[in-house]
Amino acid sequence: APREDHVIVLFGATGDLARRKLLPGLFSLARAGLLPPRYRIVGSARSAVTDDEFRRRARDAVAEFGTAEPTGEAWHEFAESLSYGSAEPAHPQPLLDAVATAEQTIGGHPRRLFHLAVPPRGFTPTIGMLGDTGLAGNARVIVEKPFGTDFASARALDDAIHTTFDESQVFRIDHFLGKESVDNILALRFANGLFEPIWNRDHISHMQIDVPETIGIEGRAGFFEQTGTFRDMIVTHLFQVLGFVAMEPPTSLAAKQLRDETTKVFEAMPPVDPTQVVRGQYRGYRDEPGVDPGSQTETFVAARVEVDNWRWSGVPFYLRSGKSLGQRRQVVTLGLKQPALRMFALDPSLACAMSNNELVIDFDDPGWIAARFLAKEPGATMRLTEAAMTFRYADSFCTQCALAGYERLILDAMLGNQSLFTRADGVERLWKVSGPLLDNPPPVQPYDPGSWGPDAVHRLIAPHHWYLPDGR
Ligand code: BG6
Repeated sequence: APREDHVIVLFGATGDLARRKLLPGLFSLARAGLLPPRYRIVGSARSAVTDDEFRRRARDAVAEFGTAEPTGEAWHEFAESLSYGSAEPAHPQPLLDAVATAEQTIGGHPRRLFHLAVPPRGFTPTIGMLGDTGLAGNARVIVEKPFGTDFASARALDDAIHTTFDESQVFRIDHFLGKESVDNILALRFANGLFEPIWNRDHISHMQIDVPETIGIEGRAGFFEQTGTFRDMIVTHLFQVLGFVAMEPPTSLAAKQLRDETTKVFEAMPPVDPTQVVRGQYRGYRDEPGVDPGSQTETFVAARVEVDNWRWSGVPFYLRSGKSLGQRRQVVTLGLKQPALRMFALDPSLACAMSNNELVIDFDDPGWIAARFLAKEPGATMRLTEAAMTFRYADSFCTQCALAGYERLILDAMLGNQSLFTRADGVERLWKVSGPLLDNPPPVQPYDPGSWGPDAVHRLIAPHHWYLPDGR
């Protein structure tokens, strides 16, 4: 647990992210004994809310989205730590008062941690206010994704941040990097002699990073219309996972060394080619409340990208994510090249799904890894069939003890460890890589809710096939 006392200020405290992830996540950390010995959590947003009302909202959020009921001593203690102070950049006084009260309650000089769970346009004014009021002092700041909406806005945001904060105080959060099984990609690759030797263009024919979701936009029309799936999921979560899958061995897991390596991956990515991107929109999206009836915002993206370096040259990386699809999954699939000589006749039904071996990493909590291969079916003839070796987190470890992505990262921020946070140069490079697509997006193609996106996704990946939905 962090040893420094903390005042955590949650901007966007009345919003969706605070309700779904941040307040339940903070309560989980409290129950696990992973908050500092003395802490206070100050909620803030534009609207005026009383402390009691904020506590009620937090309790409802934990009841709906948390892993433990908001009852008993643990809840009582946590609820006691909550207070609220509204803030608008021009009217920060209620927040200043709430922070001062929280600090007096703790005593001494607690560290301030600001979590900016606000839409992208709210970042700069909030940071300006933190600078002007002197709150920024010894603080750290967690900035939510998407970090900017293109290269110019990300650069402007970095400039604005650096007028108030030193880079060592800045924690750009991408909660996929806090997921146990994404972190485990580093262990899988660099702690074992079994996998890394084949982790390159000599053995791998293609990669897939597939994150279909069943949820729609869940009433977030305002956010989603301005953002779309490319900015919400691809340029952030999927590219960051790609960074872990594709990086060279870092010399250590320290923040500089790890982020140097992911940044090198992003530097090796050629600009996204808009002809290698399928943008989709689920039928019915335009009827959602708050969505423009002629909206061209995409709720689905599939893209083919490359990493042009010695390890990956010529290996396509296929990425896919979308709302209202057939299944919720978070999967990386490494398709292995065929052996030099096929001496077995393959059952034609296997030829398509399993003509190659696959290493599959399912990184949705609690996660699993499977090596899929061909094996001889028992019997007098040499008949091959599908087989798998599977490691399941839930079978081997206490997954109750696992921290969710946000929990792990908020804890790391309190400890001052930036390793799993994104860095300005890497993020800016990803916006540069995305520039041609943002400037020239192909038209959105409709798809049916519950499907796997527009038909064009199959042409995009040919001659390979999407591992999902038929892979297990
Ligand atoms: C968020 C996106 O960052 O990630 C959401 O804004 C998406 O649109 C979510 O649904 C997926 O995250 P998780 O925690 O469900 O894996």
